[in-house]
Amino acid sequence: MTSVLPADLAALGREAGEAIAAAPDSAALETLRVGLLGRQGRLTGLLRDLGTLPAAERRERGAMLNSLKDELAASIARRREELEGAALDAALAAERLDITLPPRPSPAGLIHPISRTIEEIVALFGAMGFAVVTGPEIEDDWRNFGALNIPEHHPARQDMDTFYLPGHREGRRRVLRTHTSPGQIRTMRNAKPPYRVIVPGRTYRADHDATHSPMFHQCEGLAIDRAITLGHLKGCLIDFLRAFFAKPSLPVRFRASYFPFTEPSMEVDIGWDRRSGEIGAGKDWLEILGSGMVHPRVLANGGVDPREWQGFAFGMGIERITMLKHGITDLRPFFESDLRWLRHYGFSPLQPAILHEGLGA
Ligand code: PHE
Repeated sequence: MTSVLPADLAALGREAGEAIAAAPDSAALETLRVGLLGRQGRLTGLLRDLGTLPAAERRERGAMLNSLKDELAASIARRREELEGAALDAALAAERLDITLPPRPSPAGLIHPISRTIEEIVALFGAMGFAVVTGPEIEDDWRNFGALNIPEHHPARQDMDTFYLPGHREGRRRVLRTHTSPGQIRTMRNAKPPYRVIVPGRTYRADHDATHSPMFHQCEGLAIDRAITLGHLKGCLIDFLRAFFAKPSLPVRFRASYFPFTEPSMEVDIGWDRRSGEIGAGKDWLEILGSGMVHPRVLANGGVDPREWQGFAFGMGIERITMLKHGITDLRPFFESDLRWLRHYGFSPLQPAILHEGLGA
């Protein structure tokens, strides 16, 4: 634009420019913008008046008005940025974050060591394809004994110091299950093989001292398929024990034994040092669980044809492996709800047993 602005436009431009530069905040700036460029604005009014001018004048004045309008719009935008930047700086200075605040208190609840061990067992056997199943704590004597090939007057029924309950179910005596092995029978009678299951849960025997509680926990394992062998049993249990105790070269020994429901039967020992109590060190052996190939008669009692299917079972005491893993020497406080003991031996619920983090010792 070469032409010089007429006096009225030059005055308007100067006056508006000064007011924009002096606008104290966004609200004042917006009022100015509306007064100049809004529908009733001064500049808008001048543009509207163009229509009353002769064509020759209209072109030149129109061009001048439009460039003045652009100039003012640009200075308004610039001033708006300045004001917003200043407002942000002020907010940042005022809303300072105090990162020296102490952390929030940790959650009050902790995971009981028994629950923790069950979580770890579930994670480890879960990774080997075992599903978790449960059964009732009130069983009948057929599922707890008879179906497991423990005959009526067999000493095992007394060995186990069974709690009998009054009354019968389906003509059978009611008992508090003395082991989780009735879970084998329930699994087999419930569905066709193959199975890979573990059965963690509470069990009961009339026994009470520093190493026995009338209520305790076991975990059963059962794997049935067409060609499951003793090799699978050994592989699964060795892998489990080494991972659970976080000792990759933990010595594991399989020792011939007897259970009415497995044939052959084996007790499983791990290496430890009797004097120091250290797992995986020294020359001593510690019995840790019972296992074997499921007896053909037990398969038949479960409705599974022993000519077609075979497999292994095992049962372990949860308190025992928990005490060994964490160096706990007395069984009784497990069930006394002493908060000091629980705080000492409990586990954070924020660190669950997840295999990719390793279970740790
Ligand atoms: N039920 C047995 C016990 O309580 C353990 C066991 C389970 C042994 C499965 C062999 C197979 O001692």
